[in-house]
Amino acid sequence: MSALPSNPSESAFAPAVSPLAVSPLAVSPLAVSPLTRALFAQVQEAPPDAILGLNQACAQDKNPKRQNLGPGVYMDGEGLTKPLPSVLKAETRIIGRDRKEGYLPIDGNPIFNRLSQELVFGKSSSLVKDGLITTVQSPGGTGAVSLAAHLLKRIVPSASALISDPTWPNHRGIFAEVGFPVQAYPYYDEKSRSVRFEELLQFLNSQPQRAIVVLHASCHNPTGYDFSESQWKELCSFFATSSHIPVIDFAYQGFKENLEIDAAPIRLFAEAGIPCLVATSLSKSFSLYSQRVGALHVVTTNKGEADRVLSQLKQIVRAIYSNPPAMGASLVAEVLGDSTLRTEWEAELTGMRERIAHMRLDFVAEMKKRGHSFEHVAQQYGMFSYTGLTAPQAEELRKRFSIYLMSTGRVSIPALNKQNLTYICDAIAEVVTSVR
Ligand SMILES: Cc1ncc(COP(=O)(O)O)c(C=O)c1O
Repeated sequence: MSALPSNPSESAFAPAVSPLAVSPLAVSPLAVSPLTRALFAQVQEAPPDAILGLNQACAQDKNPKRQNLGPGVYMDGEGLTKPLPSVLKAETRIIGRDRKEGYLPIDGNPIFNRLSQELVFGKSSSLVKDGLITTVQSPGGTGAVSLAAHLLKRIVPSASALISDPTWPNHRGIFAEVGFPVQAYPYYDEKSRSVRFEELLQFLNSQPQRAIVVLHASCHNPTGYDFSESQWKELCSFFATSSHIPVIDFAYQGFKENLEIDAAPIRLFAEAGIPCLVATSLSKSFSLYSQRVGALHVVTTNKGEADRVLSQLKQIVRAIYSNPPAMGASLVAEVLGDSTLRTEWEAELTGMRERIAHMRLDFVAEMKKRGHSFEHVAQQYGMFSYTGLTAPQAEELRKRFSIYLMSTGRVSIPALNKQNLTYICDAIAEVVTSVR
């Protein structure tokens, strides 16, 4: 018989209590020793996440003109992050089906894993066909990078992790959390607004063998500057003999040129036979931010390795979150596995990419009208722009205009639209003149 009152309103008068709650306390709070009580006393306040902190500060700003140029999410011309129509159709189909409950396998939805592998490495990839790539569905791109770090901790526990200067801040957080010392490699030169490629190679050459090197495949976050095709080729030759371990973060497939071209650096490494770890996110390309959908692909040199790597990854997943969430991966699999939905999705992705590119051009043109050159913004790729705005200028934009951006001057380009561009450009023009 149920212990719950049949009429919920009864509980206000005669609360249903478990036998545990009515038994006398085993010890009085006064009897808890000072050392026992002190468990959390020394816990320091951790700094808030820079990007999430910015969102919160903007949300609390009462100025109706406030603008948040921080978040790495796509917004349409109305400033909204909406589900993609192709994904909504996939959702309708999935919901209409006879749904089974239960856990996903530890390594995720096998159909999603196969399709996401093909998306990254190409349908005709011999590596895919020969089973040399181990794929594990992950909770977003963050989960994929984190799984890569956990796996590497088992394989090269005393290595260092090298991340680009600057980078997506979570790269440092993830590798440090797993216990790797983290160092930054030279990447972006503010003066010449380009990649410090020669310095990067020199730096990598100076590192002890088997360093973990985290690279961005495309749409470098936060700068928007990527390696050129010839630099990728040089990097590929370098990694072929250096013993360093490439971890390629691929969070923006389709946001630079197209799905195929954006994946070219990864295919270059994989086809050259360089073992590498590729962390992908489907958050941006499918506008599925809260569904946490991504995958880690590990490129191995033979099937035996691929199987053993999978066994290690399964053990890691089991210990940290057991198995991944189902819905996001089902949606992606439904879209990628259906030629009509896939064609629609590709057009939607092209639409997102093109809107961002147009906003870059519009921003540059508006700033030019106001007498300021921001040509570089149109030369960068992806969601973000390193605008060159300084920390004091960002601060002034926040204080005087309620325009929120990172202190590094990073601006999320999809946050710009025809409605807010004039306000934002007027404010930037004023601030770059008045604050150095
Ligand atoms: C470079 C990079 N890697 C990984 C991620 C994480 O993606 P997700 O939101 O899927 O965890 C992001 C998201 O901003 C990113 O910019």
